[in-house]
Amino acid sequence: MIDDEFKHKPVLINEVIESIEPADDKIYFDATFGNGGYSKKILSSSNCKVIAIDRDPSVSSKAKEFEEKYKDRFKFIESRFSQIKKVMEELEREKVNCFLFDIGVSSMQLDNANRGFSFMKDGPLDMRMSNTGKTAGELINTIDQNELADILFHYGDERNSRRIARSIINYRNKKEIKSTLELADIIKKNNKNFKSKINPATKTFQALRMFINNELEELHSGLNQALNLLSIAGKICVVTFHSLEDRMVKNFSKALGSSVKVEKVIKPSDDEVRLNPRSRSAKLRLIQKISNQNKYIPIEECGFSL
Ligand SMILES: C[S@@+](CC[C@H](N)C(=O)[O-])C[C@H]1O[C@@H](n2cnc3c(N)ncnc32)[C@H](O)[C@@H]1O
Repeated sequence: MIDDEFKHKPVLINEVIESIEPADDKIYFDATFGNGGYSKKILSSSNCKVIAIDRDPSVSSKAKEFEEKYKDRFKFIESRFSQIKKVMEELEREKVNCFLFDIGVSSMQLDNANRGFSFMKDGPLDMRMSNTGKTAGELINTIDQNELADILFHYGDERNSRRIARSIINYRNKKEIKSTLELADIIKKNNKNFKSKINPATKTFQALRMFINNELEELHSGLNQALNLLSIAGKICVVTFHSLEDRMVKNFSKALGSSVKVEKVIKPSDDEVRLNPRSRSAKLRLIQKISNQNKYIPIEECGFSL
Protein backbone atom coordinates (compact mmCIF):
# COMPACT_ATOMS: atom_id res chain seq x y z
CA MET A 1 0.00 0.00 0.00
CA ILE A 2 1.28 3.44 -0.93
CA ASP A 3 -0.13 5.05 2.21
CA ASP A 4 1.84 2.76 4.49
CA GLU A 5 4.10 4.52 6.92
CA PHE A 6 7.30 5.09 4.93
CA LYS A 7 10.31 3.08 5.97
CA HIS A 8 12.59 5.81 4.67
CA LYS A 9 11.76 9.29 5.97
CA PRO A 10 12.24 11.66 3.04
CA VAL A 11 14.73 14.38 4.04
CA LEU A 12 14.06 18.12 3.48
CA ILE A 13 10.85 17.16 1.68
CA ASN A 14 8.95 20.40 2.44
CA GLU A 15 11.90 22.54 1.41
CA VAL A 16 12.27 20.53 -1.82
CA ILE A 17 8.61 20.97 -2.70
CA GLU A 18 8.66 24.71 -1.89
CA SER A 19 11.72 25.13 -4.10
CA ILE A 20 10.46 23.25 -7.13
CA GLU A 21 6.77 24.27 -6.89
CA PRO A 22 5.23 21.26 -8.70
CA ALA A 23 2.81 22.45 -11.40
CA ASP A 24 0.25 20.76 -13.66
CA ASP A 25 1.54 19.24 -16.92
CA LYS A 26 5.22 19.61 -15.94
CA ILE A 27 7.63 16.67 -15.95
CA TYR A 28 9.76 15.83 -12.91
CA PHE A 29 12.67 13.36 -12.94
CA ASP A 30 13.25 11.63 -9.59
CA ALA A 31 16.72 10.14 -10.03
CA THR A 32 16.73 8.46 -6.59
CA PHE A 33 13.28 6.89 -6.20
CA GLY A 34 14.13 4.84 -3.05
CA ASN A 35 10.88 4.45 -1.12
CA GLY A 36 9.17 7.02 -3.33
CA GLY A 37 8.94 9.80 -0.72
CA TYR A 38 9.78 12.61 -3.15
CA SER A 39 7.80 11.15 -6.07
CA LYS A 40 4.71 10.73 -3.91
CA LYS A 41 4.77 14.31 -2.65
CA ILE A 42 5.29 15.71 -6.17
CA LEU A 43 2.52 13.59 -7.68
CA SER A 44 0.07 14.61 -4.96
CA SER A 45 0.97 18.31 -5.19
CA SER A 46 -0.13 18.79 -8.81
CA ASN A 47 -1.37 17.02 -11.92
CA CYS A 48 2.17 16.54 -13.22
CA LYS A 49 4.18 13.56 -14.50
CA VAL A 50 7.12 11.86 -12.77
CA ILE A 51 9.83 9.76 -14.39
CA ALA A 52 11.74 7.89 -11.69
CA ILE A 53 14.88 5.77 -11.67
CA ASP A 54 16.84 3.89 -9.01
CA ARG A 55 19.77 1.53 -9.44
CA ASP A 56 18.56 -0.75 -6.64
CA PRO A 57 16.35 -3.58 -8.00
CA SER A 58 14.70 -3.99 -4.57
CA VAL A 59 12.64 -0.77 -5.03
CA SER A 60 10.70 -2.26 -7.96
CA SER A 61 7.70 -3.44 -5.91
CA LYS A 62 7.20 0.05 -4.48
CA ALA A 63 7.55 1.48 -8.01
CA LYS A 64 4.90 -0.96 -9.26
CA GLU A 65 2.46 0.31 -6.62
CA PHE A 66 3.05 3.84 -7.90
CA GLU A 67 2.50 2.76 -11.54
CA GLU A 68 -0.79 1.14 -10.58
CA LYS A 69 -1.97 4.16 -8.62
CA TYR A 70 -0.78 7.01 -10.85
CA LYS A 71 -1.09 5.23 -14.24
CA ASP A 72 0.48 7.28 -17.06
CA ARG A 73 1.54 10.04 -14.64
CA PHE A 74 4.34 7.84 -13.30
CA LYS A 75 7.02 5.75 -14.99
CA PHE A 76 9.85 3.85 -13.28
CA ILE A 77 12.97 2.44 -14.92
CA GLU A 78 15.72 0.60 -13.02
CA SER A 79 18.76 2.63 -14.02
CA ARG A 80 21.64 4.85 -12.92
CA PHE A 81 22.52 8.58 -13.06
CA SER A 82 25.06 7.91 -15.80
CA GLN A 83 22.26 6.48 -18.00
CA ILE A 84 19.79 9.38 -17.66
CA LYS A 85 20.14 10.37 -21.32
CA LYS A 86 19.48 6.77 -22.38
CA VAL A 87 16.38 6.61 -20.15
CA MET A 88 15.05 9.80 -21.76
CA GLU A 89 15.68 8.37 -25.24
CA GLU A 90 13.91 5.15 -24.29
CA LEU A 91 10.88 7.16 -23.12
CA GLU A 92 11.09 9.46 -26.18
CA ARG A 93 11.30 12.52 -23.98
CA GLU A 94 13.44 15.54 -24.83
CA LYS A 95 13.20 17.86 -21.85
CA VAL A 96 12.36 17.75 -18.16
CA ASN A 97 11.27 20.63 -15.90
CA CYS A 98 13.14 19.45 -12.84
CA PHE A 99 15.67 16.80 -11.79
CA LEU A 100 15.86 15.59 -8.19
CA PHE A 101 18.85 13.78 -6.70
CA ASP A 102 18.56 12.65 -3.07
CA ILE A 103 22.03 11.16 -2.89
CA GLY A 104 23.37 8.30 -0.80
CA VAL A 105 21.89 5.21 0.80
CA SER A 106 18.29 4.79 1.88
CA SER A 107 17.23 3.61 5.34
CA MET A 108 16.06 0.34 3.73
CA GLN A 109 19.58 -0.27 2.41
CA LEU A 110 21.32 0.80 5.62
CA ASP A 111 19.00 -1.12 7.95
CA ASN A 112 19.17 -4.41 6.06
CA ALA A 113 22.21 -6.21 7.55
CA ASN A 114 22.46 -8.46 4.47
CA ARG A 115 23.28 -5.50 2.24
CA GLY A 116 26.48 -4.90 4.25
CA PHE A 117 26.28 -1.08 4.40
CA SER A 118 26.22 -0.74 8.18
CA PHE A 119 29.08 -1.12 10.68
CA MET A 120 26.45 -1.46 13.42
CA LYS A 121 24.85 -4.65 12.09
CA ASP A 122 26.61 -7.89 11.26
CA GLY A 123 26.32 -8.99 7.68
CA PRO A 124 28.33 -9.91 4.59
CA LEU A 125 30.62 -7.20 3.21
CA ASP A 126 28.51 -6.48 0.14
CA MET A 127 27.66 -2.72 -0.17
CA ARG A 128 26.49 -2.91 -3.80
CA MET A 129 23.45 -0.76 -4.48
CA SER A 130 22.76 -2.47 -7.82
CA ASN A 131 23.68 -6.01 -6.72
CA THR A 132 26.21 -6.18 -9.57
CA GLY A 133 30.00 -5.90 -9.75
CA LYS A 134 32.62 -6.37 -7.07
CA THR A 135 31.53 -6.56 -3.42
CA ALA A 136 33.31 -4.63 -0.66
CA GLY A 137 34.58 -7.99 0.66
CA GLU A 138 36.09 -8.95 -2.70
CA LEU A 139 37.74 -5.54 -2.85
CA ILE A 140 39.35 -5.44 0.59
CA ASN A 141 40.51 -9.06 0.45
CA THR A 142 42.40 -8.57 -2.82
CA ILE A 143 43.41 -4.92 -3.21
CA ASP A 144 46.96 -3.61 -2.89
CA GLN A 145 47.67 -1.73 0.38
CA ASN A 146 48.52 1.63 -1.22
CA GLU A 147 45.49 1.54 -3.46
CA LEU A 148 43.28 0.80 -0.47
CA ALA A 149 44.80 3.71 1.47
CA ASP A 150 44.16 6.02 -1.51
CA ILE A 151 40.50 4.95 -1.65
CA LEU A 152 40.03 5.58 2.09
CA PHE A 153 41.67 8.98 1.74
CA HIS A 154 39.94 10.20 -1.43
CA TYR A 155 36.45 8.77 -0.87
CA GLY A 156 36.32 8.98 2.93
CA ASP A 157 38.51 11.98 3.79
CA GLU A 158 40.10 9.47 6.23
CA ARG A 159 43.25 10.99 7.76
CA ASN A 160 44.36 7.59 9.12
CA SER A 161 44.02 5.95 5.71
CA ARG A 162 47.58 4.49 5.62
CA ARG A 163 47.32 3.03 9.14
CA ILE A 164 43.89 1.53 8.57
CA ALA A 165 44.92 0.06 5.19
CA ARG A 166 47.97 -1.56 6.86
CA SER A 167 45.85 -3.10 9.61
CA ILE A 168 43.38 -4.50 7.07
CA ILE A 169 46.17 -6.07 5.02
CA ASN A 170 47.89 -7.51 8.13
CA TYR A 171 44.63 -9.11 9.25
CA ARG A 172 43.66 -10.48 5.86
CA ASN A 173 47.12 -12.05 5.45
CA LYS A 174 46.05 -14.40 8.24
CA LYS A 175 42.31 -14.67 7.61
CA GLU A 176 39.83 -13.55 4.97
CA ILE A 177 37.67 -10.62 6.18
CA LYS A 178 34.08 -11.74 5.80
CA SER A 179 31.71 -9.56 7.77
CA THR A 180 30.93 -5.92 8.47
CA LEU A 181 31.51 -6.22 12.24
CA GLU A 182 34.80 -8.03 11.62
CA LEU A 183 35.99 -5.09 9.50
CA ALA A 184 34.67 -2.51 11.99
CA ASP A 185 36.55 -4.35 14.76
CA ILE A 186 39.86 -4.36 12.85
CA ILE A 187 39.56 -0.58 12.49
CA LYS A 188 38.55 -0.07 16.11
CA LYS A 189 41.44 -2.14 17.47
CA ASN A 190 43.85 -0.02 15.48
CA ASN A 191 42.38 3.24 16.70
CA LYS A 192 42.87 2.86 20.44
CA ASN A 193 43.47 6.61 20.84
CA PHE A 194 40.33 7.54 18.96
CA LYS A 195 38.46 10.05 21.15
CA SER A 196 35.54 11.12 18.98
CA LYS A 197 32.00 9.88 19.66
CA ILE A 198 31.76 8.91 15.99
CA ASN A 199 32.53 5.25 15.28
CA PRO A 200 36.13 4.98 13.92
CA ALA A 201 34.83 2.79 11.05
CA THR A 202 32.53 5.54 9.72
CA LYS A 203 34.86 6.98 7.10
CA THR A 204 36.20 3.61 5.94
CA PHE A 205 32.67 2.31 5.36
CA GLN A 206 31.72 5.51 3.54
CA ALA A 207 34.80 5.31 1.33
CA LEU A 208 34.30 1.64 0.43
CA ARG A 209 30.61 2.22 -0.36
CA MET A 210 31.37 5.23 -2.54
CA PHE A 211 34.13 3.39 -4.39
CA ILE A 212 32.17 0.16 -4.90
CA ASN A 213 29.21 2.09 -6.32
CA ASN A 214 31.23 4.67 -8.26
CA GLU A 215 29.13 7.27 -6.48
CA LEU A 216 31.07 10.45 -7.24
CA GLU A 217 31.56 9.53 -10.90
CA GLU A 218 27.84 8.69 -11.14
CA LEU A 219 26.87 12.02 -9.58
CA HIS A 220 29.20 13.93 -11.86
CA SER A 221 27.83 12.22 -14.96
CA GLY A 222 24.23 12.62 -13.77
CA LEU A 223 24.61 16.36 -13.17
CA ASN A 224 26.05 16.95 -16.65
CA GLN A 225 23.36 14.90 -18.37
CA ALA A 226 20.57 16.49 -16.31
CA LEU A 227 21.72 19.99 -17.22
CA ASN A 228 21.53 19.21 -20.94
CA LEU A 229 18.06 17.70 -20.62
CA LEU A 230 16.65 20.46 -18.44
CA SER A 231 14.26 23.01 -19.92
CA ILE A 232 15.01 26.72 -19.53
CA ALA A 233 14.05 27.94 -16.02
CA GLY A 234 14.08 24.31 -14.88
CA LYS A 235 15.93 23.30 -11.72
CA ILE A 236 18.32 20.59 -10.60
CA CYS A 237 17.68 19.90 -6.96
CA VAL A 238 20.33 17.95 -5.04
CA VAL A 239 20.28 16.75 -1.43
CA THR A 240 23.70 15.61 -0.22
CA PHE A 241 24.81 14.06 3.07
CA HIS A 242 28.52 14.73 3.23
CA SER A 243 31.15 17.15 2.13
CA LEU A 244 32.57 15.17 -0.84
CA GLU A 245 29.22 15.13 -2.64
CA ASP A 246 28.33 18.64 -1.59
CA ARG A 247 31.69 19.94 -2.84
CA MET A 248 31.04 18.29 -6.20
CA VAL A 249 27.62 19.94 -6.61
CA LYS A 250 28.95 23.31 -5.45
CA ASN A 251 31.93 23.25 -7.83
CA PHE A 252 29.76 22.00 -10.70
CA SER A 253 27.37 24.93 -10.31
CA LYS A 254 30.25 27.42 -9.95
CA ALA A 255 31.86 26.14 -13.14
CA LEU A 256 28.61 26.77 -15.03
CA GLY A 257 28.98 30.52 -14.39
CA SER A 258 26.24 32.79 -15.66
CA SER A 259 24.36 30.06 -17.55
CA VAL A 260 22.72 29.10 -14.25
CA LYS A 261 21.33 30.74 -11.15
CA VAL A 262 22.40 29.15 -7.89
CA GLU A 263 20.24 29.45 -4.82
CA LYS A 264 21.32 29.56 -1.18
CA VAL A 265 22.04 26.20 0.50
CA ILE A 266 19.12 24.93 2.59
CA LYS A 267 19.62 22.79 5.73
CA PRO A 268 17.09 20.84 7.79
CA SER A 269 15.32 22.60 10.64
CA ASP A 270 16.07 21.67 14.27
CA ASP A 271 12.68 19.95 14.37
CA GLU A 272 13.50 17.74 11.40
CA VAL A 273 16.88 16.77 12.87
CA ARG A 274 15.18 15.90 16.16
CA LEU A 275 12.55 13.74 14.42
CA ASN A 276 14.99 12.20 11.93
CA PRO A 277 18.62 12.27 13.14
CA ARG A 278 19.76 10.89 9.76
CA SER A 279 18.90 14.27 8.25
CA ARG A 280 21.44 16.16 10.37
CA SER A 281 24.15 16.53 7.72
CA ALA A 282 21.80 17.05 4.76
CA LYS A 283 22.20 20.04 2.44
CA LEU A 284 19.90 21.04 -0.38
CA ARG A 285 21.37 22.85 -3.38
CA LEU A 286 19.35 24.23 -6.30
CA ILE A 287 20.72 25.06 -9.72
CA GLN A 288 18.38 26.84 -12.13
CA LYS A 289 19.14 26.77 -15.85
CA ILE A 290 18.83 30.22 -17.36
CA SER A 291 20.53 29.82 -20.73
CA ASN A 292 20.71 27.07 -23.29
CA GLN A 293 24.46 27.31 -23.56
CA ASN A 294 25.23 23.63 -22.91
CA LYS A 295 28.54 23.02 -21.24
CA TYR A 296 30.27 19.81 -20.10
CA ILE A 297 32.04 20.25 -16.77
CA PRO A 298 34.91 17.74 -16.35
CA ILE A 299 35.17 15.91 -13.01
CA GLU A 300 38.45 17.67 -12.11
CA GLU A 301 36.64 21.03 -12.27
CA CYS A 302 34.17 19.64 -9.74
CA GLY A 303 37.09 19.22 -7.34
CA PHE A 304 37.59 15.47 -7.65
CA SER A 305 40.58 13.53 -8.91
CA LEU A 306 42.02 10.18 -7.88
C1 LIG B 1 18.46 8.55 0.04
S1 LIG B 1 17.71 7.36 -0.97
C2 LIG B 1 16.38 8.21 -1.75
C3 LIG B 1 15.14 8.25 -0.95
C4 LIG B 1 13.94 8.84 -1.66
N1 LIG B 1 14.11 10.25 -1.98
C5 LIG B 1 12.69 8.67 -0.79
O1 LIG B 1 12.13 9.69 -0.37
O2 LIG B 1 12.29 7.55 -0.52
C6 LIG B 1 18.84 7.20 -2.29
C7 LIG B 1 18.45 6.21 -3.36
O3 LIG B 1 19.22 6.52 -4.50
C8 LIG B 1 19.64 5.35 -5.13
N2 LIG B 1 20.87 5.66 -5.87
C9 LIG B 1 22.07 5.99 -5.37
N3 LIG B 1 22.95 6.21 -6.36
C10 LIG B 1 22.26 6.06 -7.53
C11 LIG B 1 22.61 6.17 -8.90
N4 LIG B 1 23.85 6.48 -9.29
N5 LIG B 1 21.66 5.97 -9.82
C12 LIG B 1 20.38 5.64 -9.44
N6 LIG B 1 20.00 5.51 -8.15
C13 LIG B 1 20.92 5.72 -7.21
C14 LIG B 1 19.84 4.36 -4.00
O4 LIG B 1 19.71 3.03 -4.47
C15 LIG B 1 18.73 4.76 -3.04
O5 LIG B 1 17.58 3.98 -3.24
